[in-house]
Amino acid sequence: MATTYLKVLFFLLACLLLAVSCKHRIEGVNDTGNGNPGNGSGNGGSSAPCDPNKIYFQQQVLPILVSNCALSGCHDDASHEDGIILTSYEKVMASGIISPGNPGSSDLYEVIIDTDPGDRMPPPPRNTLTQSQTQIIRQWIQQGAQNLVCQSMCDSNSYTYSGAIKILIGNKCQGCHSGSAAQGGIDLSTYNGVKAKVADGKLWGSINHQPGFSAMPRNGAKLSDCEITQFRKWIIAGSPNN
Ligand code: HEC
Repeated sequence: MATTYLKVLFFLLACLLLAVSCKHRIEGVNDTGNGNPGNGSGNGGSSAPCDPNKIYFQQQVLPILVSNCALSGCHDDASHEDGIILTSYEKVMASGIISPGNPGSSDLYEVIIDTDPGDRMPPPPRNTLTQSQTQIIRQWIQQGAQNLVCQSMCDSNSYTYSGAIKILIGNKCQGCHSGSAAQGGIDLSTYNGVKAKVADGKLWGSINHQPGFSAMPRNGAKLSDCEITQFRKWIIAGSPNN
């Protein structure tokens, strides 16, 4: 009698574990940190379709943090200014600047909306985050600051400058590559700036991690196959300002 009871108990426990692990696979919690979150390439099948009402840390939040905060001398792995590293979900959460569910008591949110140049992040001469970037971070914290990834937000058939390339660069490169402190002296905030780096072959070499080029985005995951395809198609089309 007791053994039957135990067996049933074990069975139920096994079901529960299975359900939990499946849920994780579906929700796509990415515990590899800064590895390829499987975003954009659409080949995973390991994550849920994107829900427009949810904020996906791996696709929407991390690129903003990497390109605006994880610069050398700031919050990359080597510099960890103030003990804060913003290169992966685990490190962001371990920095103690996020209060899940409560943007108002999350230091990360406080400093990006601070209007005092002496306190705000990123500090001058770097640009402040855009309103939509600030909004994404606020919503992400409000929604519990989870580590979510969804199937794909990238459509390789969309590859105009204004509809794809500019947005991608805005999210993943521009924080480092704009303004008077543009990294490597490379400003990718204007069409002409991007075009120049296409012309000298450096943009293509760096996003494809080709030998002889610096791998980009620095401190971030390599662009997905779909995103690289968008660049390839746009470059083949003559990299127009369309
Ligand atoms: C965290 C900061 C950071 C991010 C994000 C970043 N870069 Fe860079 N990038 C740098 C630094 C620093 C250099 C200059 C030093 C070097 O070449 O390694 C550089 C150099 C480059 C170069 C010249 C490479 C070469 O081999 O000469 C290109 C092109 C470039 N970046 C493009 C990009 C693109 C495109 C993205 C977004 C997909 C991006 N970067 C994201 C920091 C960044």
